[in-house]
Amino acid sequence: MSARPILLVAGGAGFIGANFVRHVRANRPDWQVRVLDALTYAGDRRRLDGAGCELIVGDIAHRPTAAAALQGASWLVNVAAETHVDRSLLDVEPFLHANVLGVQRLFEAARLAGVAKAVHVSTDEVYGETRGGAFRETDALAPRNPYAASKAAGDLMLLAAWQTHQFPLCITRGVNTIGPWQHPEKAVPLFTINAIRGQPLPLYGRGAQQRDRLHVDDHASAILTVLERGEPGEVYNVAADNHCDNLTVAQRICARVGAPPSLIHFVTDRTGHDWNYALDAAKLRALGWERRYDFGAALDAAVDWYLASPDWWEPILEGEFQAYYDRQYGERLAGAEAFRA
Ligand SMILES: NC(=O)c1ccc[n+]([C@@H]2O[C@H](COP(=O)([O-])OP(=O)(O)OC[C@H]3O[C@@H](n4cnc5c(N)ncnc54)[C@H](O)[C@@H]3O)[C@@H](O)[C@H]2O)c1
Repeated sequence: MSARPILLVAGGAGFIGANFVRHVRANRPDWQVRVLDALTYAGDRRRLDGAGCELIVGDIAHRPTAAAALQGASWLVNVAAETHVDRSLLDVEPFLHANVLGVQRLFEAARLAGVAKAVHVSTDEVYGETRGGAFRETDALAPRNPYAASKAAGDLMLLAAWQTHQFPLCITRGVNTIGPWQHPEKAVPLFTINAIRGQPLPLYGRGAQQRDRLHVDDHASAILTVLERGEPGEVYNVAADNHCDNLTVAQRICARVGAPPSLIHFVTDRTGHDWNYALDAAKLRALGWERRYDFGAALDAAVDWYLASPDWWEPILEGEFQAYYDRQYGERLAGAEAFRA
C-alpha cells in the first residue's frame, strides 16, 4: 500500500486553520494532515478535537522545528500569523516575528524540504482601504495598519522567493472571515458573545465602516482550490460580495440572539480604521471556486454556532482575554452612547 500524501498546515490550531483542516479531512480523506502551531493566545488545540490530524507544537520561525514538521510533506498551507489589528496597535513585534520572519523561515524550510506546492494565506488588508471599486491582484499594496503592513511584507518576501528560486507557491488574499471557533476578540464573535451575556456591544465610531464577510468554509474551499489548481507564483483574491456596514451586522446579531439593540454602544473609533475593503475575485472563480454562503446565511450560521458553543468560548473569556478587553474597551465603554432604533 502506498503512503498517504502529507499536507502540513502551519497555524492549524487557529480559526481558519482548524476549519481548513476539517474541510480537507472531509473532502480529501486519503490525505494525511499534520499541523504545526505555536499555540499562542489565539491557538487552541480544542479546535482540532476529533479532526483526525497530528499536532506539532512549535514556532514557524524556529528553523529546526519547521524542517522537522515538513519532513515528508508534499504540500504546505500557511495560516500561522498574528492576526488582530487592535493588538498590532499595542505591540507590533509579535507581528513582525510571525508574519515576516516566520513566513520567510517556514517557506525557506519548505523549499529545502522539496515541498511540491505551498499556499500562503494573506489578507485583503494589504491593499489598504477602498472608498469605491474593488482591488485586483495586480494593484499596489498600501497597508494602513501594522498588522496589514506585516502581512504585506510577508507577501513580498514570498513573491521574491518565487522570482529567485521558482519555489512553487501561491498567495491567497481573503476578506473578513466568520464562522465557528473564531477568537472572541474579533467583531462577530465579540458582539455575539456580549449579546448572549447581556453585555454592551462596543461598536467603533458610528458603525459605518463596511466589510465583505466570507464564511470560513468558503475560505477553506478557496485555499484548497488554490493549492490544487492555482498557478505557481500567482496571487488569488478571495471575496464573497457580502458587503455590509458594521452597525447592520451588530443589529442582525442582536435580533438573532434575541437581545435588545440598545446593547449596541458607539465607542471611540480605532485609530486609522479602514473604511472598506473590496476585492475582485474573478481570477479565483476562473479556477472553478464559488462561495456557498451569502451574507445572511454566513452571519446566521456563525451566530448560531456561538449560541450552541458556550463550552468553547466561556473559558477563553477568563484570564488574558479579560485583561485585553478591559484595556481595549474599558475607557471606551465608560459613558458610551447607546444605539436607539
Ligand atoms: N480571520 C479573518 O477574518 C482573516 C481574513 C483574511 C485573511 N486572514 C488570514 O488568515 C490567517 C489565519 O487567520 P485566523 O483568523 O485563523 O488567525 P488566528 O489568530 O485565529 O490563528 C492564528 C494561528 O497561528 C498560530 N501562530 C501564531 N504565530 C505562530 C508562530 N510563530 N508559529 C506557529 N504558529 C503560530 C496561533 O497559535 C494560531 O493558532 C492569517 O494569516 C490572516 O492574516 C484572516
